[in-house]
Amino acid sequence: MPATRTDTAVPIGRHDETRRLDALLDEARRGRGGALVLRGEPGIGKSTLLEHLRSGASGFLVMEASGAEFEMELPFAALHQLLAPVTGRLAGLPVPHRTALRTAFGLDTGAADPFLVGVGSLGLLTETAAERPLLCLVDDAQWLDRASAKALAFLARRVAAEPIALVLAAREGSATPELDGLPAHHLRGLGDADARALLGAALRAPLDDRVRDRILAEARGNPLALVELPRTAGLAGMAGGFAQPDSVPA
Ligand SMILES: Nc1ncnc2c1ncn2[C@@H]1O[C@H](COP(=O)(O)OP(=O)(O)OP(=O)(O)O)[C@@H](O)[C@H]1O
Ligand SMILES: [Mg+2]
Repeated sequence: MPATRTDTAVPIGRHDETRRLDALLDEARRGRGGALVLRGEPGIGKSTLLEHLRSGASGFLVMEASGAEFEMELPFAALHQLLAPVTGRLAGLPVPHRTALRTAFGLDTGAADPFLVGVGSLGLLTETAAERPLLCLVDDAQWLDRASAKALAFLARRVAAEPIALVLAAREGSATPELDGLPAHHLRGLGDADARALLGAALRAPLDDRVRDRILAEARGNPLALVELPRTAGLAGMAGGFAQPDSVPA
């Protein structure tokens, strides 16, 4: 077990992913920062992995933000959320960086210079990380406002010499051109044994074998589908041995 993790259960079938994320934490703790974008379809388990990472990152200061559809048109909204815990350090930044960040966060009027915002953000993070390694988690990155996405990509490319790990999660297929050049991991559906294990854990009653097979086929290893389909299959599908496969929604 790597030193940077507490003992939290690995999400079903995600050992490879958690190993990669653990390695990112271990490297960051040694001052070799890095970034990773988790990509995958809705319900595949991106937020679950972020939560696992967050709950196991002992010794790290965790800073979090998430994209939100209704804030996509608000420049720097997500960056503002991420940096909120460290804005008390603004006063220690060089004036141009401080001014750019104050402008970006609506504390001063004018247009924020994106480069100075990036450098200022990096300054805040490195100052903070000098005291304690830093884990930055950004969920739902497909809904980041573009100014924040650019700033986060800027940060991701500059943490290599800092004790900073940055992990973003984004739905596959959504347009996030700012993040395209960053290291990425594509989450696939769970394999058959893991899908069966998750389905079994999600069930509260016996399940007809034909219904089980139908759910497994429908879900294609998607954890959300595996958790939700038994509920929507209806009570008829749950009564061991008596269900019709047709009771599972198409
Ligand atoms: N490996 C796993 N083991 C057990 N449960 C899982 C696993 N992955 C995901 N789940 C469960 O599946 C559901 C969907 O997972 P999650 O919210 O992480 O998906 P997501 O990829 O973040 O989806 P979205 O794109 O909609 O945000 C949750 O209820 C979660 O608890
Ligand atoms: Mg999610």
